[in-house]
Amino acid sequence: MNFRRWWMLVAGLAACLFTMVATAATASPREVLVLGGTGKVGARIVRQLVAGGNRVTVFARAGSDHHRIADLPVQYAIGDLTQAADIAAALHARTYNIVISAVRVQDNDPHFFERFMQPLASNAHATGVQQLIHHSAVGAGANLAKFAGRGWEKNPGLVERLKDQGIAEDILRASGVPYTIIRNAGIYPDSAPATGTAELTEDDTALTSMTRADVARLTMQCVGNPACLGKTFHIRDPSLPWRPPQPDQDRE
Ligand SMILES: NC(=O)c1ccc[n+]([C@@H]2O[C@H](COP(=O)([O-])OP(=O)(O)OC[C@H]3O[C@@H](n4cnc5c(N)ncnc54)[C@H](OP(=O)(O)O)[C@@H]3O)[C@@H](O)[C@H]2O)c1
Repeated sequence: MNFRRWWMLVAGLAACLFTMVATAATASPREVLVLGGTGKVGARIVRQLVAGGNRVTVFARAGSDHHRIADLPVQYAIGDLTQAADIAAALHARTYNIVISAVRVQDNDPHFFERFMQPLASNAHATGVQQLIHHSAVGAGANLAKFAGRGWEKNPGLVERLKDQGIAEDILRASGVPYTIIRNAGIYPDSAPATGTAELTEDDTALTSMTRADVARLTMQCVGNPACLGKTFHIRDPSLPWRPPQPDQDRE
């Protein structure tokens, strides 16, 4: 065998080895922590993460209702998002590649998102989380000015909650954790099927309704996707009129 052939053989073997190692690395399951994973949006995300071969831990309060994900092989981190120590303990108990927050404030606390994002983002940064996907709201912080004249200030507490969402977004952006923010609005009842026409957009004037099924589907598009890092998205579904069709307890 002459030198040229020998060199080509070595180079070919090296390329094969590199491909095998790279494939093994990308195929290995990711560790994902989901906050709100017992809820309507979060449970859909958890189900799709498990189906995709990821190892999922759900952060939930003691005594929380697990019925939406009871059939799934997930672990639980028991804690309350209002307790910084619980958040720190969850983040340090395991090495997570990805953290997803799909949480809904349940007692209208106007500082809820700010309170939990501070320890969440700092502990995610300290533990090397590679992506934090946070579900926020259209109108968060300065984005509210884009929707002036819609009368949102007449909805008791809404402006305060949107201000809180804006502060949480800013904490996340400044934290150094690679992040993706997905803002939702006008969510249809949980029974509404995916339309398949919803899309992520960086147009921060976009305002349409949406289904939880599509919110979960679009979240999955961003999981581990470098194209979503450092981005703040709205969800736009051209097939749905603004506001869900009837008052529903799922609505905010
Ligand atoms: N704009 C709209 O029309 C609209 C309507 C509804 C929802 N949304 C948005 O959709 C997203 C998810 O809502 P959803 O319908 O899935 O809400 P959901 O079904 O009410 O679920 C809320 C989740 O948040 C968790 N959570 C709340 N407080 C917590 C705390 N102190 N500690 C730990 N976990 C806590 C709950 O966990 P536990 O199991 O421990 O209770 C639950 O998993 C949110 O971004 C929400 O703002 C928007």
